Amino acid sequence: MKIAVIGAGLMGSGITQQCAQAGFSTVNIDAFAAAQEKAKATLAALFERKVAKGRLTTEEADAILSRISYSTDYAAAGEADIVIEAVPEKIDLKKAVFKQLDAVCKAEALLLSNTSGLSISEIGSVTKRPQQVMGTHFFYPAPVMKLVELIRGLATSDEVYTQAKAFMHSLGKTTVDAPEYPGFIVNRILVPMQNEAAYMVMEGCSPEDVDTAMKLGTNMPMGPCELTDFVGIDVMLATMTGLYEGFHDSKYRPCPLLERMVKAGRLGRKSGQGFYTYK
Ligand code: CAA
Repeated sequence: MKIAVIGAGLMGSGITQQCAQAGFSTVNIDAFAAAQEKAKATLAALFERKVAKGRLTTEEADAILSRISYSTDYAAAGEADIVIEAVPEKIDLKKAVFKQLDAVCKAEALLLSNTSGLSISEIGSVTKRPQQVMGTHFFYPAPVMKLVELIRGLATSDEVYTQAKAFMHSLGKTTVDAPEYPGFIVNRILVPMQNEAAYMVMEGCSPEDVDTAMKLGTNMPMGPCELTDFVGIDVMLATMTGLYEGFHDSKYRPCPLLERMVKAGRLGRKSGQGFYTYK
């Protein structure tokens, strides 16, 4: 079985790694070769650390890497049995990607979107095969986090749902069925909590205190500010904005501090500055 992953950002590169680790020949497609170069370097460094820690042998690392290829041309998805789209969380961008996939993919290919909250029905509607389109939401870091949310659009067929679920299980993931409403299950609960943490920082609480309180008070592995920096402040803000616009409910209003930070280019770990400073 051949896999194509669209997007070489944090999620796309993690999903590519996960598919190759599970033994699948995987092509990563991104219009920007520079993003792929960065993803390649990050993966090589991660595997070096795993080999040094004795988690992986050099031969195993080489075998996984040999199953990954890179292309900047969507035509490379033409051979794939399963395509997983993981481009930024913008509906127009996702629709444009699915239009291109519709033009090049095999008729029976599964077209999966790693959206964290956008409508699968809307994404599928731009294709001539909305029954083949489904949501499979991974969590960051994709090779580590065990959950995948399965989201069916109005047109997704039973067969596609069953095949996508079986594929996620073959990657070693646990799946849950999530409703096709903004945020699905996890982000609908998690992201408002991160947003509330940002309000507390805006009101004068230190990120360290917010994080220590939540880590020691609820056993979270990372505090909410640390997690927002980890995932990306822009990504988290986009998800929160999706909840706000999707439910038309003021209880989801994004914290203005997050908007200021994004405008200033403080995007969290990836930019070197978020709630915390990174070297
Ligand atoms: N990519 C791939 N693998 C990674 C990784 C990455 N970015 N970061 C860490 N890992 C791997 C490491 O290689 C290591 O693997 P081995 O044990 O085989 O060596 C393993 O993860 C543990 O890493 P560390 O020992 O360095 O660190 P840790 O024990 O502190 O765990 C963590 C790191 C797993 C990220 C942990 O802090 C954690 O679970 N944090 C919370 C993550 C979370 O909540 N994610 C969900 C975010 S919300 C979301 O994703 C939704 C959305 O739509 C954006």
